[in-house]
Amino acid sequence: DGTLVFLGIESSCDDTAAAVVRDAPGGAEILSSVVEGQVALHAPFGGVVPEIAARAHAERIDHCIEAALAEAGLGLDALDGIAVTAGPGLIGGVLSGVMCAKGLAAATGLPLVGVNHLAGHALTPRLTDGLTYPYLMLLVSGGHCQFLTVSGPEDFTRLGGSIDDAPGEAFDKVAKLLGLPQPGGPAVEAEAMTGDPRRFALPRPLLDRPGCDLSFSGLKTAVLRARDGLLAAQGGLFRQDRADLCAGFQAAVTDVLAEKTRRALDLSAVPALAVAGGVAANSTIRAALERVCAERGVRFTAPPLRLCTDNAAMIAYAGIARFRADGRDGMDLSARPRWPL
Ligand code: KG4
Ligand code: ZN
Repeated sequence: DGTLVFLGIESSCDDTAAAVVRDAPGGAEILSSVVEGQVALHAPFGGVVPEIAARAHAERIDHCIEAALAEAGLGLDALDGIAVTAGPGLIGGVLSGVMCAKGLAAATGLPLVGVNHLAGHALTPRLTDGLTYPYLMLLVSGGHCQFLTVSGPEDFTRLGGSIDDAPGEAFDKVAKLLGLPQPGGPAVEAEAMTGDPRRFALPRPLLDRPGCDLSFSGLKTAVLRARDGLLAAQGGLFRQDRADLCAGFQAAVTDVLAEKTRRALDLSAVPALAVAGGVAANSTIRAALERVCAERGVRFTAPPLRLCTDNAAMIAYAGIARFRADGRDGMDLSARPRWPL
């Protein structure tokens, strides 16, 4: 009857994840979604350490898959296929997932479908909000920053993206500069609530240039200079200094994202915008993007956070979409550290 049930496997960064998704003519349903994060493992190093990530994925992936099948109440025999992130990402982690998926496919005879991690994020709003093609996707996380027009399961047009850091990475670095805890986004957002965004004149990088490309590393450097100026002048940072720097930084990121989104909407002329990634949790940024959409008469959607940060349900869902479009892979499927859409 056209119903397909897929296992999804994700291990491209610092989350080991497995999920089961059923796609039926009436719509798709997530039967289970298990995510084991590695924040605590990497915290002492101030960033994700690829070797540690790869080892943790290899150790945990079997358990994640068993947990996902158990939560769905299904055995391997109930599946129609296995989808796995084949890139882009940290190669050791991607390899752990791909090898595990190949083993399962070989043992069960099920079809194997390699999925681009970014396609997983980009197709999620169809699963969560019932969006129809085409729509504009803004991916803003610790590792990604790009505008994509999504016109089909394998039909993406990249309109622009960050030429250096991702915005979440900039939030994390600013938090580190100011002695705030990681992950930096929520910490900076909380500080910014009591800050004056106009006290420090921070740049709005690339706004003066046409197009949808963004840049965040200069903004982080500007925060560093302002902090060092305060340290030199007064020997330390006061609470209000920290709050004002956070508010100024957040306002600059918000202005840049809002203006570039306006341009991307004008370029793509689509009826809906979907935002995904950890940074979409920021309420100031979200409100600004909602205003831009209201201005342009465009629908605004953002998948719930657990589905717009890294997970395997998006991989299972994108795998089904690719499989329906006749996409599948053999045992020669390779893990790709770089894989632009
Ligand atoms: O999507 P995600 O969980 O992981 C990937 O990077 O793939 O995004 C995590 C990023 C981190 O950099 C974190 O600081 C940022 O999202 N983030 C936020 C907020 N919550 C999380 N950034 C700004 N404001 C927030 N409220
Ligand atoms: Zn991701």
